[in-house]
Amino acid sequence: MSKIIVITSGKGGVGKTTTAINLGAAMNYFGKDVLVIDGNLSTPNVGIHLNSPEVPINLNHVLSKKADPDEAVYEHDSGLKIMPSSLSIKELKKMKPERLKELKEDFKKLGEYIIIDSAAGLGKEAISAMETADEIILVTNPEMPAITDALKTIKLLEEMKKEVAGVIVTRVRRNKSEMTPDVVKDMLEAPVLGSIPEDKCAQEALSLKNALVHTHPRSKPARAYKEIAAKILEVDYDSSKDSPSIWRFFFRR
Ligand SMILES: Nc1ncnc2c1ncn2[C@@H]1O[C@H](COP(=O)(O)OP(=O)(O)O)[C@@H](O)[C@H]1O
Ligand SMILES: [Mg+2]
Repeated sequence: MSKIIVITSGKGGVGKTTTAINLGAAMNYFGKDVLVIDGNLSTPNVGIHLNSPEVPINLNHVLSKKADPDEAVYEHDSGLKIMPSSLSIKELKKMKPERLKELKEDFKKLGEYIIIDSAAGLGKEAISAMETADEIILVTNPEMPAITDALKTIKLLEEMKKEVAGVIVTRVRRNKSEMTPDVVKDMLEAPVLGSIPEDKCAQEALSLKNALVHTHPRSKPARAYKEIAAKILEVDYDSSKDSPSIWRFFFRR
């Protein structure tokens, strides 16, 4: 049975798209058939992250009934399947995010796990994505503004009777001024699925138009994303065995 997981946050710029792509890539690593849909119709980024900024048929065509869902699926070199949204301003004015939930069962036919990257905020677009979800993952940074917006999102999801699978805390710097995962958990009253460290490989992967799980597979963020995927998929994964070994380093040199 396929599952739709929606990645949302409240606050913008916290790492939703990076998480949607890398969680998808990490699930792929464990052999799952994953499709990442760009549900952020106003400012879509999935295609930009994965080398498909403009494609002939995209989610906008599907939402306006000009194409079938399977026609808007593209396979990235890494094997990850994506459904990009349009970057055009013309399409922006015509977008129909409210149709997302009507397509729920059609999306489910396109993979074992469907990950929807959503827009920031709590407007029509973000809510439409949430309505399509079987499970929701909240992304936040360990800072008060992001936590406050995440909390507001959780309250809204409670009203919508939507299940929050957990929270992913991204861009963690581990300095004294940021909140600890325990404080985040207490404030949000939701399970923390994992923490992703701040790392320059996120920008490097972006410039390589690929997921960091593929470009930097043994980096700390890649292993953290794999740990979260393993938790969701209930499979074993020992990140210490996946770490860069000193012998491997010398051998390569
Ligand atoms: N773990 C990380 N370490 C460093 N930079 C990150 C990390 N995760 C995301 N970023 C960067 O933060 C910025 C915002 O991330 P993005 O995924 O686009 O957020 P959102 O989708 O919530 O707007 C991007 O420039 C991205 O490369
Ligand atoms: Mg985004």
